[in-house]
Amino acid sequence: MLITNISELVTNAPREAVSVASPGPFEAMTDAAIVLDAGVVAWTGPAARAPAADERVDAASRAVLPGFVDSHAHLVFAGERGAEFAARMAGLPYSAGGIRSTVAATRAASSDQLRANLARLAGELLRQGTTTFECKSGYGLTVADEARSLALAAEFTPEVTYLGAHVVPAEFEADPASYLDLVCGDMLAACAPLARWVDVFCERGAFAADEARAVLAAGETAGLAARVHANQLGPGPGVQVAIEAEAASADHCTYLTDGDVDALASSGGTVATLLPGVEFSTRSPYPDARRLLNAGVTVAIATDCNPGSCFTSSMPFCVALAVREMRMTTTEAVWAATAGGAHALRRTDVGHLGVGARADVVLLDAPSHAYLAYRPGVPLIAAAWRAGERVA
Ligand code: NIG
Ligand code: FE
Repeated sequence: MLITNISELVTNAPREAVSVASPGPFEAMTDAAIVLDAGVVAWTGPAARAPAADERVDAASRAVLPGFVDSHAHLVFAGERGAEFAARMAGLPYSAGGIRSTVAATRAASSDQLRANLARLAGELLRQGTTTFECKSGYGLTVADEARSLALAAEFTPEVTYLGAHVVPAEFEADPASYLDLVCGDMLAACAPLARWVDVFCERGAFAADEARAVLAAGETAGLAARVHANQLGPGPGVQVAIEAEAASADHCTYLTDGDVDALASSGGTVATLLPGVEFSTRSPYPDARRLLNAGVTVAIATDCNPGSCFTSSMPFCVALAVREMRMTTTEAVWAATAGGAHALRRTDVGHLGVGARADVVLLDAPSHAYLAYRPGVPLIAAAWRAGERVA
C-alpha cells in the first residue's frame, strides 16, 4: 500500500540521514510517500519517485507520523474517581491513598467488567493514534487479582507490567513487611509468567528505596525487566534505584536533583519518561524537560492513563502539554511520544518509520506534526494503521 501526497513525513530517521535543515531530533521529509508491505515499512522517499503499489491512499497534503508509543498506562481497573478530581480542583492535594479506592472497586468487579473497561480504553487509545501501549496491574494487590489483571492486559498488549508494588493494601497496613514478602514471593510467582516488566512506586507513602530494590531484584530473578515510578510527588531515591537496576525507564521524574539528571544522562539505557497529564490533572509543577534534554537524557512522553492522577488516554494532549508547559519543541515532543516511548519499552520495531519497522502509521488531519500542539484538544487523527492494518 502506497500513501502518497504527504505534506510532511516524520520517520524519526536521525538527522544526518536526511537533508532538510530544521531544529529538533528528527527532520521530516516534505512531498513524501511511504509504502507499507506485509505489515512493515517497505519504502519511504519523495512522492515523485514512489514505486507502484496495489493500493494507493492520497494523504491530500497532510502529515504522516509513526503511531504513538504510550509506555505508561494503568488500564485494568473498575470504578472512577471523578469526585476526587473535583475535590482536588477545589483545593485538596493529590495523595497516593486514592489508589486504595480503585483497588476495592477492581477486586469487586467481574473479569468481564474489567475487560470491557480495558477494551473501551484500548479503543480510545487507537482512535488517538496510539498503536503500542504498555499496561500495568496494580489495582488488584492480591495474588489472584494481580494475576487476573495481567492476564486481561495481555489480551490487549504484549507490554504487560506487574505492579504488585503499587501501594500497600489496607489489609496489610499494620504489617507492610509481609506485603512486600508476598509481592516478591507468591504474587510474583503467579504473575511473572504473565508479564514482561516489573514496576514499583518508589515514593513517600508507597515503597522506600530498599523495598523497591527488593521488588526489582526479585522481578529480575523471575525474568522481568525493570521500570520504576520515580520522583513523582517529591525528591527521593526512585531515579537512582531505577538506574542501579538498569531499568528501561524512570517514570515521572518531576523532582530531580542535579545528581539525578547527571545519572540519567550517563545511564546508557534508562529513559526519563515524563507524564505531563499527571501534573495537569493534579495541578502540580511540571517536570523540567529542558533540563533533561540539555543534559542529553533520552526523554519519552506517556499518558499514565489511570482513574486517579490522570485520566487521559490522549497522546496528542500530552504532546500539546509537553510543548506548551514543559518547553519541549514540537519535534522533541513528537519524537518523545513515538521513538522515546519505544526506547522506554526497549522496542526497535515501533516508534519510527524506517524501512523494516512495523507499519504503525498515523495520518493527521493537518499539514504538519506541529498541529498536535498548535490545535490542542482537536481530534486530528484522520487514520491509523497498525502492522499495515487500518485500525482508526
Ligand atoms: O502513576 N503513581 C502511582 N500510580 C499512578 C496513580 C494511580 C492512582 O492514583 O490511582 C500514577 O500517577
Ligand atoms: Fe503510573
